[in-house]
Amino acid sequence: MILVTGGLGYLGSHTCVALQRAGLSLLVVDNLANSRIAVLERMRALGGGEVEFVQADVRDRAALDAAMRGRRIEAVMHFAGLKAVGESVARPLEYYDNNLTGTLVLLQAMAAAGVHALVFSSSATVYGEPAFLPYTEEHPLNPVSPYAVTKRGVERLLEDLAAADARFRYAALRYFNPIGAHPSGRIGEDPRGIPGNLFPYLTQVAVGRLDQLTVHGREYDTPDGTGVRDYIHVMDLADGHLAALRHLLEARGSITANLGTGRGTSVLELIAAFERVTGLRVPHAFGPRRDGDIASYYADARLAERALGWRASRGIEDMCRDAWAWQSANPSGYPD
Ligand code: NAD
Ligand code: WQD
Repeated sequence: MILVTGGLGYLGSHTCVALQRAGLSLLVVDNLANSRIAVLERMRALGGGEVEFVQADVRDRAALDAAMRGRRIEAVMHFAGLKAVGESVARPLEYYDNNLTGTLVLLQAMAAAGVHALVFSSSATVYGEPAFLPYTEEHPLNPVSPYAVTKRGVERLLEDLAAADARFRYAALRYFNPIGAHPSGRIGEDPRGIPGNLFPYLTQVAVGRLDQLTVHGREYDTPDGTGVRDYIHVMDLADGHLAALRHLLEARGSITANLGTGRGTSVLELIAAFERVTGLRVPHAFGPRRDGDIASYYADARLAERALGWRASRGIEDMCRDAWAWQSANPSGYPD
């Protein structure tokens, strides 16, 4: 059985479907801080497997001990945490507590229960301003926001733990920009409030929840002047987790790897692809640059391919089509 923390969230729920489809049974622990219980039945229906759920906070050691007791947990996938870069600058205590304390308590509970394998949700934000592109895993690390510092802090903790305990193995996966949804449109990204990220904002404009998209900056040093990112389909990201899990369960050692496609797409290219796929128009206007934004970044995705035998197979148009399947069928997101 695999323990999935934060398994009702955006990335966790899609990964839970892929894990079930691979025949794994799951124990999900989530405190519902940024997700809805309606996700559970939908991911059970899509995955067709066994999913137990415990509503608990990963900082609650007694709750983790109780959840693991009597169950044979082979490995943990740790998605639980807070993820908004801007909010982390305004509320550092909450970010350090959820992301660092949460992981520390989880690792202590795992050690006590004799569980020695962890897949961790890291982030490309650990690299900071690019010294060169694409970012390889050897690129210098310069986390700037409190959020990025928590991700790098956990990576360092995992390195120290693996050095101290030969049984412990981890996969730290540095995600680029996951977007899209399960192709059924039954589960997808459902941010609370006004989305801070480009793609959920775009799909909410397309469905009529928001009036118009603001493109942040048009004079970057990129082919069309707008920001370039490495968007990765959430189901490719889910498959990458399955590959990383197999790597750990087969005792092939610890790994820190990018999960991206290796290709950059600009804001205007993404809007154009979405319009092409859906036949809709997305009203947009240009605004000033967003504070702290980097012009362009994308992954060198070769390590994951070499070491995990995984590479992204879905393209930008798949991401647009599947996100629209979700947003158009669920204009207001999940029910309460
Ligand atoms: P999400 O907010 O949708 O999912 C996180 C889940 O964890 C939610 O269901 C939330 O309720 C739960 N959670 C939060 N704090 C918790 C706690 N203390 N105890 C128990 N549950 C808790 O976010 P997501 O987009 O699915 O991201 C998952 C992970 O991936 C996060 O760690 C995030 O930092 C990381 N990540 C995300 C992105 C991205 O673009 N979405 C990119 C890089 C890394
Ligand atoms: C993408 C592009 C914006 C909104 C962040 C985190 C990263 C990861 C994913 C957690 C940029 C432009 C955006 C809008 C726009 N999360 N944009 N109008 O900033 O690359 O990454 O989320 O780990 O760590 O830093 O993603 O989707 O916010 O922005 O023009 O309304 O879209 O300027 O070029 P970002 P994003």
